[in-house]
Amino acid sequence: MLDGKNIILGVTGSIAAYKAAYLIRLLIKKGAKVKVVITPAGKEFITPLTLSTLSNAPVISDFFSNRDGTWNSHVDLGLWADTMLIAPATASTIGKMANGIADNMLITTYLSCKAPVFIAPAMDLDMFAHPTTQQNLERLRSFGNHIIEPAEGELASHLTGKGRMEEPENIVRVLEAFFSPKEDLQKKKIVITAGPTYEKIDPVRFIGNYSSGKMGFALAKVCADRGAEVVLITGPVNQTIDHPKIKRVDVESADQMYEVTMNVFPTVDAAILCAAVADFKPAVRSDEKIKRESSNELCLRLTPNRDIAASLGAIKKSGQVLVGFALETNDEERHATDKLRRKNLDFIVLNSLREQGAGFRCDTNKISIIDKFGVVTHFDLKQKLDVASDIVDKLATLW
Ligand code: CTP
Repeated sequence: MLDGKNIILGVTGSIAAYKAAYLIRLLIKKGAKVKVVITPAGKEFITPLTLSTLSNAPVISDFFSNRDGTWNSHVDLGLWADTMLIAPATASTIGKMANGIADNMLITTYLSCKAPVFIAPAMDLDMFAHPTTQQNLERLRSFGNHIIEPAEGELASHLTGKGRMEEPENIVRVLEAFFSPKEDLQKKKIVITAGPTYEKIDPVRFIGNYSSGKMGFALAKVCADRGAEVVLITGPVNQTIDHPKIKRVDVESADQMYEVTMNVFPTVDAAILCAAVADFKPAVRSDEKIKRESSNELCLRLTPNRDIAASLGAIKKSGQVLVGFALETNDEERHATDKLRRKNLDFIVLNSLREQGAGFRCDTNKISIIDKFGVVTHFDLKQKLDVASDIVDKLATLW
């Protein structure tokens, strides 16, 4: 699970710092790449030479090198990481992390790190039990960090109690469990529509929209990674996907998307309708290119396309889950709830075009989920893959 993972190991000034050496060895044995960031106090307990030899990489401690002035970029380091592990984490480092006191390289790296962060506290039992430490840990938890609780046992003070840093083997187990793929969608079959549809005007022109397909492709990847068999029906997009559990079907028009989706729907456990299907198509399609000279004014008469979501909602069997999307510009929740009811969806994913970083062509999205019971959940701005995980988590709860 840790093979190829980039791990920042933060080491702070605790007697348990010697365990960092074992941790590095175990992580490297599992195939991870480790870069160590150490606090000034950490260097009093274990030498950078030991850590750099074991990790095969320079140990970072200062903002820049005194020797040649090279700048150590905590931002680059934060972006490189798949995870950051702070082990051992002292009460002081925990306090600084909880309050953004960025006075050393470890804290600035933590603040720049977008990857999940694991914290393994190590301190005396009374320090650990103190409400200050407990509140700081609670705060760090509320920011989404993972705390690896210390074990009970003999401490450096010769007292016995809770405060011993968890053993390296167990810390590695926690990381492995975190990175092991969830397989909760095994035996499920899911159809996903994605991208725009193109409605032909003539052989060279069409009516389309800005949908990139990124959200639908992210959903397909997450569902397949979690064990589902996926049929991805996509309009014209520039996305590629290569996964043994994903069958991609390319279509162009809303009519084609309708036919394929309706055909597979009886065989699936869920449909996620992420496509931006054109609501209208030209009533007449010219077989030849419409010439500029043919008229002074060109009027296109449009007729409505069939609504795939509503058609599936009408034939949905018990046990089948139907998920729709709504991209709104105003009165968002009201319009989305109306669509949820009209199309007989189980839940609807709402994007607001008023939110920065949400909507077409972005790599990020900010969604709310409204379910058929009227429960509304708001999510933060996230990468589309993480948004897809939130949507799939919701889907999984319905099974
Ligand atoms: N949808 C669909 N088939 C259509 C139109 C929409 O399956 N012909 C699905 C979309 O994939 C989405 C949901 O229905 O999951 C809502 O799409 P949207 O375009 O927001 O809804 P409309 O009913 O077309 O309403 P609007 O008037 O806002 O366009």
